[in-house]
Amino acid sequence: MKTRGAVIREAPGKWEILEIDMEEPRQGEVQLKMVASGLCHSDDHMTTGDLPPGILPMAGGHEGSGIVTKIGPNTPGWEVGDHVVLSFLPGCGRCRWCASGMQNLCDLGANVLTGCRSDGSFRMSIDGKPIGQGAGISTFCEDTVVDVASCVKVDKDIPLEKACLVGCGVGTGWGSVVNAAEARPGQTVIIMGIGGIGINAVQGASHVGATHVIAVDPVEFKRETALSLGATHAFATMDEAAEFARSVTNGQGADSAVVTVGVLKTEHVAQAFSAIRKAGTVVVTGIGAVTEEVRVPAFELTLYQKRVQGLEPQPGHPVDAAALPERAAAPRRADHDDVQARGHQPGLRRHARRQEHPRGHCVLSRYRSRLNERSGRLSTHSTSRRAPSGRFESV
Ligand SMILES: NC(=O)c1ccc[n+]([C@@H]2O[C@H](COP(=O)([O-])OP(=O)(O)OC[C@H]3O[C@@H](n4cnc5c(N)ncnc54)[C@H](O)[C@@H]3O)[C@@H](O)[C@H]2O)c1
Ligand SMILES: [Zn+2]
Ligand SMILES: [Zn+2]
Repeated sequence: MKTRGAVIREAPGKWEILEIDMEEPRQGEVQLKMVASGLCHSDDHMTTGDLPPGILPMAGGHEGSGIVTKIGPNTPGWEVGDHVVLSFLPGCGRCRWCASGMQNLCDLGANVLTGCRSDGSFRMSIDGKPIGQGAGISTFCEDTVVDVASCVKVDKDIPLEKACLVGCGVGTGWGSVVNAAEARPGQTVIIMGIGGIGINAVQGASHVGATHVIAVDPVEFKRETALSLGATHAFATMDEAAEFARSVTNGQGADSAVVTVGVLKTEHVAQAFSAIRKAGTVVVTGIGAVTEEVRVPAFELTLYQKRVQGLEPQPGHPVDAAALPERAAAPRRADHDDVQARGHQPGLRRHARRQEHPRGHCVLSRYRSRLNERSGRLSTHSTSRRAPSGRFESV
């Protein structure tokens, strides 16, 4: 069948809305009519070339929700009409990582950037030439074909345009604080960068009962939003945030600092590293150029027993949306033309779009009429277990 989607043909490049040929689902796959898709900074990294797609062209998007329209042969457990939140990290349930509760590190993740199936095959093409699917799910398309390992079935009364956000932003931000930093009641937590990821980290810190939830962002609107969603303090710079953290911890520093800036540089991690206390944790969630390396003082790493923790989000991280303020789950809407017009101008998007709402969000508005607008509990069916990713830690 034919569908339409936002495709990148070169990197650096821009998103273009193109017609795509899509194959029928094979065994272990389903076809979806997309309802909503988020626009994450990681999509921007594809267009700037920071995170080069493994194959070009690539149909983008890695945070989305939709409704099952077709099921591959011999694929039990699925029905046409099932509601699905897509996970940009598949979980096979069988590999070492999945079997150890670390499905966020599933071996199937090896194809996230290549956008092909584990056997190297593709399901989408343009003019007879195979194209990749972003994270294997290509949520910027009106229809998609995905491996069921990327699907989390959700209740039909959950509004899909909100549930979409657990596909990346909520699980990543929330998990950065709750799972990776292991924040505890009474602690002091710094969140550096209040975009779609950071605002969910703020809510995670607030949810666990951190006494000081310190948001850092140079953009005033982001600081105001953070304060309205659980931050207790907000600063424009890390210097101010670190000084404040020390002032409320007898000079010791923050228990943890979560780095969720849009384009990660080593100096961001160094700033976070110097802001935490002895045996504190820096969580590195932001992504920069693939060549970017992280440097921290070895002396402090060892003698102060500090920890630097990477974060890959947990697929289908369950979230009780009753705990999330409505505004956090009410993304600004855009359509395909908006993605095409603005998606390739990161500055414009970040300032024109993301200042308006902390979560830049693209909804394929054609399907909005199908949505159940009722708000309420937002949860996914998969279980969540703590899953530390790359970590270097002194003992
Ligand atoms: N680990 C993962 O699996 C994962 C998943 C999703 C996103 N990410 C990454 O997380 C990062 C954040 O994504 P997003 O969609 O929230 O981005 P975003 O662009 O919406 O937000 C980034 C925020 O950082 C702020 N910022 C920039 N420089 C700063 C600085 N020096 N100090 C404080 N704030 C600063 C910006 O003003 C902006 O508000 C990106 O690098 C993205 O690629 C990682
Ligand atoms: Zn993302
Ligand atoms: Zn697996």
